[in-house]
Amino acid sequence: MNSQLTSARVSEYSTKQLSERTWRDFERLFETHPAPGAYPCWCMYNHRCGPEPREKRDSRAKWIEQNHRDKEALVEKGRSHGILVYAQGEPVGWCQFGLSEELPRIEKNPKYLKPTSESGRRLWRITCFVVHKKYRRRGVARIALKAALAAIQNEGGGQVEAYPIKRWGGYQKYRGAVSMFEKEGFQIVAPLGKSNVLVRKSI
Ligand SMILES: CC(C)(COP(=O)(O)OP(=O)(O)OC[C@H]1O[C@@H](n2cnc3c(N)ncnc32)[C@H](O)[C@@H]1OP(=O)(O)O)[C@@H](O)C(=O)NCCC(=O)NCCS
Repeated sequence: MNSQLTSARVSEYSTKQLSERTWRDFERLFETHPAPGAYPCWCMYNHRCGPEPREKRDSRAKWIEQNHRDKEALVEKGRSHGILVYAQGEPVGWCQFGLSEELPRIEKNPKYLKPTSESGRRLWRITCFVVHKKYRRRGVARIALKAALAAIQNEGGGQVEAYPIKRWGGYQKYRGAVSMFEKEGFQIVAPLGKSNVLVRKSI
């Protein structure tokens, strides 16, 4: 009975990777303002390792537009990756992943523990989740994570790391929940600030 209920719920959703073909869906999800930080950022923050490209005199609208255009340019070059989750054809969730060189921001965090080189295998990062408010606590982030891991495996795998939250209430819940990663076989490697932890897994 329970497993029937679970599979009925899971089949509500489908996933697609971000690409030029799904760009408009990504825009639709972000334009519906699913979370306070998501819309202005356009999931660009982790792509940069320096300060945000924003002059003091710039308006907020100009900065948002810059992020929007920078993201589109990365998608066109094939340098931005992620999973879109759909419910009845509408984009309701997002998980960003990519190679360490595409998502370098975390290296600027003094609390970040660099991995020891693992036989030259590539390092992947899962940096952000966004779920439309109406669809939260219904397994969307978990589905996005599973699809991201499958996509990474499809690209040859490597070492995968993420920075999920263990103390809810902090801002960094956009990093996902520790339990989601533990269920996928990730191990906690070290704390990362007061609320988050560094987790890793080889695939
Ligand atoms: C955090 C977030 C991604 C979770 O997505 P979700 O689809 O609701 O999560 P799921 O339903 O897949 O749940 C995954 C796990 O997280 C837990 N969880 C999710 N939201 C939670 C909350 N608010 N408090 C405690 N636990 C929570 C679930 O219980 C589940 O745990 P389990 O694996 O032990 O069962 C979603 O709440 C969100 O998008 N928040 C806004 C993030 C944001 O601000 N993004 C933009 C910043 S740039």
